[in-house]
Amino acid sequence: MRYGTLAALMLAGMAAPIAVCAPPEVYRLLYPPARSVQKNLFDVIVAAPRGSPPPKVMLGTGQVRLTRLRFSESWISPGLLTATSDRIGDRERAELWIGAARASPGAQRLRLGDQTVALHVGPKPPKGWPVASVHPPVAAPKGELRCAGCHAMGPGVLGAAPPDRSCGKCHDEIAVQTIHKHVAPPLARCAMCHDPHGALRPKLLTDAREKLCTRCHAGGHSKG
Ligand code: HEC
Ligand code: HEC
Ligand code: HEC
Ligand code: HEC
Repeated sequence: MRYGTLAALMLAGMAAPIAVCAPPEVYRLLYPPARSVQKNLFDVIVAAPRGSPPPKVMLGTGQVRLTRLRFSESWISPGLLTATSDRIGDRERAELWIGAARASPGAQRLRLGDQTVALHVGPKPPKGWPVASVHPPVAAPKGELRCAGCHAMGPGVLGAAPPDRSCGKCHDEIAVQTIHKHVAPPLARCAMCHDPHGALRPKLLTDAREKLCTRCHAGGHSKG
């Protein structure tokens, strides 16, 4: 997905949170986030109740073509930490619809039922709107296979992405240590700080840098 946030972003900051475990009652637009700046080709991701008809997403007057992506059984086995998400609800009762939207530069409106999302494409965005960045492997122009860089996948099925193993394939430990100027082992859970899909902050960060460090270090004990 060309979004900046599937999991955190993608899956970040779009819709109001619902209770964990609650099935999605309605279609939920997971990506793109409202009032963000997008490239002219960006992903649209909708979480839907399993088995419901395809959601109708309109970009201006054109309809965005979506394909269905189910969660694999292995990813929703009961007891797994990853079985629910506040944005998706219970994966056993949810599925995703994903597609790519092509938009011309300027102000754009994306509609899903009565949800409307204002976006800006290209240069000269409204002041204060964050630019969505997408993690390169997610942006690869290969349909849903893009997801296979980290997720186990079958045709139309999305499996788990082991959070710690999927990053080391492309970012080795030495690079991680050099980049962060920090011993590597405490940083092994990359998704604690980076959204692997994309984000509205530079470097795919999920929060302000200082806040990320204070999760383990008391204020003041940081390299700054
Ligand atoms: C660079 C690695 C990477 C790529 C590429 C990637 N993901 Fe993920 N994704 C992850 C990780 C890591 C998690 C967290 C795994 C977990 O919690 O089990 C995750 C979680 C998710 C979740 C669950 C989020 C939640 O809030 O529960 C969804 C849905 C998802 N990915 C969809 C996708 C889709 C669709 C694609 C392709 C368009 C994709 N991902 C590509 C790494 C990736
Ligand atoms: C399939 C290969 C691949 C995998 C797997 C992968 N990445 Fe990346 N990642 C890249 C490439 C390519 C870039 C862009 C070049 C670079 O900065 O190294 C990148 C860049 C990044 C950046 C910098 C983004 C920016 O805006 O500067 C972060 C942060 C990152 N990856 C985190 C992760 C995390 C966290 C995971 C695991 C969930 C992960 N990556 C898994 C290929 C990958
Ligand atoms: C405690 C939070 C934290 C964790 C955990 C973390 N990072 Fe980072 N990462 C950062 C911050 C902050 C930056 C921005 C650079 C800086 O300010 O030091 C960054 C930058 C990066 C970059 C961009 C380098 C560049 O400038 O192009 C990559 C790639 C990256 N991290 C990969 C990873 C991978 C892979 C993991 C897991 C092995 C990981 N990070 C774990 C906080 C974290
Ligand atoms: C997941 C917990 C965790 C997070 C988040 C974290 N650290 Fe650390 N940090 C550690 C641990 C554990 C050590 C001690 C490692 C050792 O001595 O083997 C450490 C050591 C350090 C040190 C001592 C020097 C060194 O490199 O060994 C500095 C400075 C530091 N961290 C800064 C930061 C900064 C800046 C951030 C945010 C980008 C950050 N830490 C985020 C766990 C964390």
